[in-house]
Order: sequence, then C-alpha cells, then structure tokens
Amino acid sequence: MRDLPIARDIAQLRARVAAWRRAGDSIGLVPTMGALHDGHVALADRARAENRRVVATIFVNPTQFGPGEDLGAYPRDEAGDVAKLIAAQCDLLFAPSADAMYPAGFATSVQVAELTQHLCGAMRPGHFTGVATVVTKLLLQAMPDRAYFGEKDFQQLQVIRRLAADLDIPAEIVGVPTVREPDGLALSSRNRYLSTAERAVAATLPRLLREAAAALSSGAPVDATLRTATARLVAAGFSKVDYVALCDGARLQPLDHPVAGSRLFAAAHLGRTRLIDNWPVA
Ligand code: PAJ
Repeated sequence: MRDLPIARDIAQLRARVAAWRRAGDSIGLVPTMGALHDGHVALADRARAENRRVVATIFVNPTQFGPGEDLGAYPRDEAGDVAKLIAAQCDLLFAPSADAMYPAGFATSVQVAELTQHLCGAMRPGHFTGVATVVTKLLLQAMPDRAYFGEKDFQQLQVIRRLAADLDIPAEIVGVPTVREPDGLALSSRNRYLSTAERAVAATLPRLLREAAAALSSGAPVDATLRTATARLVAAGFSKVDYVALCDGARLQPLDHPVAGSRLFAAAHLGRTRLIDNWPVA
C-alpha cells in the first residue's frame, strides 16, 4: 500500500505544495474535521478527477464549536482516516495542531454577514465565524486551484463561496452533492452518536424534506407545509426541531413561496445528536 505524507505545520504544507507548483501541478484541497466517511471520500474523488494533486486536511476546529457543543466528544480516528485517504489516492494530509493554527496572540476572525443570519447561523452564534476563519486560513495556507465542500452543509458552502469571492482568494469553490445511506440519511461523522433506535428514526428527516419539497412544488401553502413537517418530525421521535425553512439557494433568505433554486433546510435533535439536511424544491 502507498503511504501518505502528513504535514503537521504550515511550513511543511507550503514546502510540499511549492514543489508541486514548480512542477506545474494543479492542486485540489479537501478540508475536513476527520472521522471520514463516504461523503468526505466523494469530495476527495472529485478533487482527484479535477486536479493533479489532492491535499486533504483534518483539523477539529475549536472556534466553530459553541460552549456545550461536542468539541471534546467529536470522533477522532487518524489511523482510520489515513487508510481512507490512501485508498482515495490523496497526495498529502495536512493535520495541524491547534497551536499551529491558533498560536498565542491570535486575534483575527472572518465574519460573513447576511448569509449567516438565518438557519444554523441563528441557532449557533459564532459557528460560521469559526468556520469562515479556519477555511480562509486553510485556503491561504494551501493556495489550491480548487477547494471541495459538501452540499450537505449547504449554508457553510454558501458562506465559503462568499468569503472566497469577497477576499479575492484565487481558488474555485466546488460544491459536491450529498452522499446518503440507502434509506436517505445524509452521511455525517455525527451519525455514529446515534443509538440503534435513533438511527431508525433519523431517516425520517430526509424523507419528510423530500415529501415537503414535492408538496411545495405542486403548490401546497408554505407555512402549513413547514408546520406539518415540523410536527411529523416530533411525532417520529425527534426531541427538538431547530428549524424547517424554505430559503432561496443563493442568499439563504426565507421565502413565502418557492422560486427557482429554492431549497428546504432542516435541523433537528435526536437525543444528544443534532442532524441537518436540505433538499431542492424544483
Ligand atoms: P466536516 O463535517 O468533516 O465535513 C468536511 C466536508 O465534507 C464538508 O465540506 C462537508 O459538507 C462534507 N460532507 C460531510 N458530509 C457529507 C455528505 N454526506 N455528502 C457530501 N459531503 C459531505 O464541514 C466541516 O467538516 C468543517 O466545518 C470544515 C469545512 C472542515 C471547517 O472546519
């Protein structure tokens, strides 16, 4: 089996990338927090298809977790992740320490307005500032031609598109469709928190989104459709529903009727696990 070089600090990352640049190689970046699954692998596969070199990153970014969220419990499995990245033919893993990313005196953050007002932005204060800051750093550290992000975290993808455009970061931001289990549940590192009983309930989330999206496209009233979907999630066993919302797919502003490119977004809790998903409304 091939091995996978690992850069633990920014200098090591830059040295590798600079050598590839001198050789004229294009570079694709796949940022992750580890505990890799086939959703992450789909990003790496797409990067592999579109670039000569693929750099994956694993960093459980403390600044995007709120107090009381799962930073300490977040699953970590570097050996398992390395095996998956080798199978996906990645060329380099960048796995920095928290000190390498946030040395003493660190004081800068990247805040994206408007897009972060609603949905998870409203429920998780500071979360998207943590994401935007770390992704800006990763893009500037690796300077890839392209960087790959999942549509599963659709609001995050839009935030990253915005910051790259606003800060003139010369990387193309590529969105990759959500990879799902056979029953429709979106793959997520957090799915491993689910008990067997919760796992059985979890697939209700994409199913109800799909049904609500179909109802909306055939003219059902928005308010009543969103309320029914929320009530059905609770009836199915979700302990708390943060939101079920119809928003436009670019600026993520709430809509009272579907428009071209609109999407349904949902976040709901099953015991200690928070699940999110989104579905296009044709
Ligand atoms: P993480 O949750 O590890 O996800 C890394 C990337 O994989 C994200 O772009 C996410 O959208 C994508 N992804 C996760 N599940 C997916 C699925 N089922 N199908 C397709 N893509 C999927 O998102 C983060 O990490 C962090 O916020 C990060 C961007 C790395 C910044 O810290």
